[in-house]
Amino acid sequence: MYKKNLFKWSLLTTFLLSFIPKVHADEGMWLLALLEQNAKEMQAMGLNIPIEKITGQDGALSESVIGFGSGCTGSIVSGSGLILTNYHCAYGAILQYVTPTNDIFQNGYWANTVAQELPVKDLVITVNKKILNVSDEVKSQLQSDASGTDNVKNAIGLVIKKYQQKYPKYRVQIRSYKNDAFFVLFLQLQYKDVRLVGVAPKNVTKFGGETDNWMWPRYSADFAYFRVYADKDGAPAAYSKTNIPLGIKNYLHISTTGYKRGDFAMSMGYPSTSDRDATSYKIKEKTQVLNPPMIAVRGLRQSIWEEEMDKSPLIKQGYAEEYANSANYYKNAVGMNFWVNKLNIIQSKEKYEKEWEKWVLKDEASRLKYGSVLAGMEKETTENAKYKRALTYYNECFSTEGIIRFVSSFGLSFLNYTENLKQRPSLRIDLASTTKQHYRNLNHDVDKRVTKALFKLLIDSLPADLQPEIFAVKKLNSAASIDKYIDEVYKNSVFADGVKIQEWLNKPSIDLKDDPMVLLSQSIEKKQREISTQASSNSAKAFKYTAAYTHSLVDFKGGRYYPDADRTIRLSYGTVTDLEMDGKITPFQTTLNGLMAKTVNTTNKDYFLNKKLESIWQGKLYGKYGVNAEMPVCFVTNGDVTGGNSGSPMLNADGSIIGLVFDCNWESMTREFNFNKDLHRVICVDIRYVLLITEKFSGSDRIIKEIEKANQG
Ligand code: ARG
Repeated sequence: MYKKNLFKWSLLTTFLLSFIPKVHADEGMWLLALLEQNAKEMQAMGLNIPIEKITGQDGALSESVIGFGSGCTGSIVSGSGLILTNYHCAYGAILQYVTPTNDIFQNGYWANTVAQELPVKDLVITVNKKILNVSDEVKSQLQSDASGTDNVKNAIGLVIKKYQQKYPKYRVQIRSYKNDAFFVLFLQLQYKDVRLVGVAPKNVTKFGGETDNWMWPRYSADFAYFRVYADKDGAPAAYSKTNIPLGIKNYLHISTTGYKRGDFAMSMGYPSTSDRDATSYKIKEKTQVLNPPMIAVRGLRQSIWEEEMDKSPLIKQGYAEEYANSANYYKNAVGMNFWVNKLNIIQSKEKYEKEWEKWVLKDEASRLKYGSVLAGMEKETTENAKYKRALTYYNECFSTEGIIRFVSSFGLSFLNYTENLKQRPSLRIDLASTTKQHYRNLNHDVDKRVTKALFKLLIDSLPADLQPEIFAVKKLNSAASIDKYIDEVYKNSVFADGVKIQEWLNKPSIDLKDDPMVLLSQSIEKKQREISTQASSNSAKAFKYTAAYTHSLVDFKGGRYYPDADRTIRLSYGTVTDLEMDGKITPFQTTLNGLMAKTVNTTNKDYFLNKKLESIWQGKLYGKYGVNAEMPVCFVTNGDVTGGNSGSPMLNADGSIIGLVFDCNWESMTREFNFNKDLHRVICVDIRYVLLITEKFSGSDRIIKEIEKANQG
């Protein structure tokens, strides 16, 4: 055993060090319009359906895989627009319905009738009706401009116009790939009336909490149901009582027959970003310049939030979502830095760059074109580090929901309020409602405490010339001076609490241009803008090198092509596979026995024992979802996904849902920069566990019936 592991490791190290420039099976967030290149391999690995059944033509599976909000994925799983996505994609929706007397984060929520389904504000789902390779059409429109350069933008515009005329009801998008060699067209519908249908309590859906986040093994029932509504003709419409559930023939089917080790599995979804061609300089920048301020700011703020949330259930309710969002990428950054180091990613990339240089500098022409690329990149990233680092501090400190951010987002409307009110009398109601929405979950004392702590961090971390001017004006150079100043601001500003603002809106007795929070926010913004301008102009200089490098990599890498994630729909495939690290094998599946074992002898609240779940486990009341008196909970595959894929359906060889993607493992925190088949896993909740929690735990027979009906015949 040991020997075998050793062998595997040395193989792995060679792989990492040599970065063989070819794209392998399992790696790849494939464009559906180019899926033909993978067809043979997918079939050899077990795919049981024709490739045309997957891609974006009429009646294809991809039509039921939807963009959920701006950062998640979902599946339509019934003929009445029922959607399955992750619980952690539902925070925003849930938050809209939490009340002091009914915290549905803790209690869960199940609509017993259609009328009880809860309309969600600001949630849009995107459906791809057709996905087409329009490369030839775009290329035939290409005309050279005066400088002799092909005008790609114009050509794309012309093709979009043509399709827009043909399909007036669709949103038409074209993306360019492979250095303007491929163009893909997406015909989409966007639905705005989406309602929350069912979620289980947090101690079940998020069992393991932040402790287990980004880790395998896992035991979370990370799912939620929504439903998409449309007008009576099935067309997208803004929320209305008269809308009805979207009738749809083409939805995804669910399979409760399970899977075994080595089975083919594929997912579809909307991964947001990746940078697989990142150079060693980019990775250094990310891990040494950008991640440390993020880790410092979030770590500090989270520790305060945690203390305050422990003190008060109301604060807990109000801050839980912000906390989870913050903690998610905080932990990701910590993990990224750890694994970049442990796996020598920077050294491997350097070696790769040397190989590239050898390849690219073979003749005089390419020497001229590429000779200065690496040196240029190094120079620009090094020079920009100071600004990028400072900018990260500003973004991290001031882009989180809080009073300072409220003032920077809406302050202007308050400054010109009396004037504008004359033109627009509804302004009072609009601002009152915006204020109410933003202050609903804000706690004055928590906000103040966080601000004080962050200011102390800033004076220690930013060079004087990159601090907001007001820091010097107010002589903020010690903890005591900061405490005093912030106390005054929070005491005297109209923005210090929502009630004061509402009073002011009714009777704007004083001019807010001298409000201390306004002055503070303006000073922060001024400096932030300065730094941002400087950083972007430096980045623009570096960009020409990066662009040249990326451009040349298409040929250097060769093989099958997939572009970096860009929030367009992608397919990824692999097999159900154990995780092996440092000689330790963690099996591909977890069970309810495993979950219960975690709750024993622990003081960690993330492993809270839910009594109802316990009684289901004790009675082995698994119905048809159990296997030999054991209940599958989560599983992993070795496919290639990233942020944005949350909620993606994991499909078997027949294209039926066997689980929902909800995370990646700790060993894969470098996946933004490179893919490693041996270490990277996609974590899914087993669809049978989803159904068990829906039926036996939550008693939602209505949903079970709907799903069973959808899967008959
Ligand atoms: N890491 C997951 C993602 O980014 C989020 C999982 C949510 N769960 C949690 N414990 N924070 O999609």
